[in-house]
Amino acid sequence: MTASRVCSFSELEQDAALRVVVDGVPIAVVRDGNDEVHAIGDVCTHGDISLSEGFVEGDTLECWAHGSAFSLRTGKPLNLPAYEPVPVYAVQIDGDDVLIDPNVKKEI
Ligand code: FES
Repeated sequence: MTASRVCSFSELEQDAALRVVVDGVPIAVVRDGNDEVHAIGDVCTHGDISLSEGFVEGDTLECWAHGSAFSLRTGKPLNLPAYEPVPVYAVQIDGDDVLIDPNVKKEI
């Protein structure tokens, strides 16, 4: 499988998350304050909550429900109540296109 275009870079707001679904896999795409783009699983491991509805703080995405903040680099929760990581996906930028293959996890 190859990476799919999920959105354009220019439609991503800084320090905000966008929910996309690629081949049935929900993914939170985040452009951080340094214009780096990250992609992590969009379902909080503590509950069935969309992480993209949460808050970007530095290189973390915080679940709005109970406050677990997930690293955008490793997928690991940095505080309870969540304790299981979410997957982290490799992101390719091609011009203004943001491409993700949900079968390719990022090397951490
Ligand atoms: S559902 Fe995300 S921290 Fe509880």
